Amino acid sequence: MLDGEMGYPYQLAMQINTALGEAFDAEKTVPITGAHLGAISIRSAESAIIKFVHDLADQGAKFRVFTTTNILCGDFRQWDKLGLLPDDRVAQESQMAAIKKMGATLLNTCTPYNLGHVPRFGEHVAWMESSAIIYLNSVLGARTNREAQPSAIAAALTGCVPEYGFHLKENRRASVVVRVDCPLNETFDFSTLGYFAGMEAARKGIVVFTGIDHASNDELKHLGAAMATSGCTAMYHIAGITPEAPTLEEALGGRSPEYEYVYGEKERKDTIDILNRDKSDHIDWIQIGCPHASIQEIEQVAKALDGKKVAENITFWLNSSQAVFNIAEEMGYLDVIRRAGAIPVADTCPINLTIPYIKKLGFTSVATNSAKQCYYIPGMCCGMNTHYGNIRTLVDAAVEGKWR
Ligand code: F3S
Repeated sequence: MLDGEMGYPYQLAMQINTALGEAFDAEKTVPITGAHLGAISIRSAESAIIKFVHDLADQGAKFRVFTTTNILCGDFRQWDKLGLLPDDRVAQESQMAAIKKMGATLLNTCTPYNLGHVPRFGEHVAWMESSAIIYLNSVLGARTNREAQPSAIAAALTGCVPEYGFHLKENRRASVVVRVDCPLNETFDFSTLGYFAGMEAARKGIVVFTGIDHASNDELKHLGAAMATSGCTAMYHIAGITPEAPTLEEALGGRSPEYEYVYGEKERKDTIDILNRDKSDHIDWIQIGCPHASIQEIEQVAKALDGKKVAENITFWLNSSQAVFNIAEEMGYLDVIRRAGAIPVADTCPINLTIPYIKKLGFTSVATNSAKQCYYIPGMCCGMNTHYGNIRTLVDAAVEGKWR
């Protein structure tokens, strides 16, 4: 490939792999079984990446491994109804067509592991999307670095990655202990804990949590999404729960921790206060589904909204993938949600909408149960403010039309 015998797209892809490998002192490449691409939303793919993808597709480049796609900049089934911009639709369709031509499966979600892209323990892959990456390393025990748009494409085309970082067992051990000393009852609690751990602990090394005796897949998803947001980290362990941490000692690789933290009621309250930036009672927009809601979370939202009515001054979005919404439709959950005045919006989320569309919405404050959205919305959604609460609090606020 590097010599160009297989054609220019593969030579270019292998040049990217080689440059990365040299930069990180990798001794060799390892084969991968899959890739998850972020170069799909026209909000996150810059013009150079859009051109890169189209050039590769035009030259007949094909992915060599199972390759799936991250989130889009809008919902194709209700583009006009949501007032999404016609030019964005054209650009988004063109990017999707190019990536599909190269052989990707268009899942259009940040939770590909909910839609059949589930690498097994120890498998090497090349994934983008920080919340998915940390889930893959921590919960599935598969191995990926935090890929960039070009490197994920290069990996998908060559079927391999340079072996460095999280592909090596010795780089996956914890060195920081976070002892959880307050109850964790729902996804909101895990999201808050994750944000706390990312702010300082995860910047010192890989964290292993102690004091957690149970966690659902959704709770682990929220924990990692928040932690990757505040801590730029790609892996955590929970002693006795995640696969590379049967015990605290094994998570630490037999060494003593370099740093130790405690997460108690005070840390919980302080973290909620940081994320609850808007101290007024004003809200325009409620968002649930970051990372994309699972079928269990959609059921939970439907039950919470059943028989209620969203106030007229509130726009209520529930985000997930179209594939998961198809199941929710069959189950009747979406009927309940729509009857209440909330809107299931597929394949996108607030921070992946384009700036002209966000400006057109004219909102100034969002309420969400996602620490990740709270972090990114002020910077990526034209300075909007954030409220942070659990699903029950959000539904109460939606009905009352204001935050309490
Ligand atoms: Fe997914 Fe958007 Fe959140 S990509 S993880 S819903 S910020």
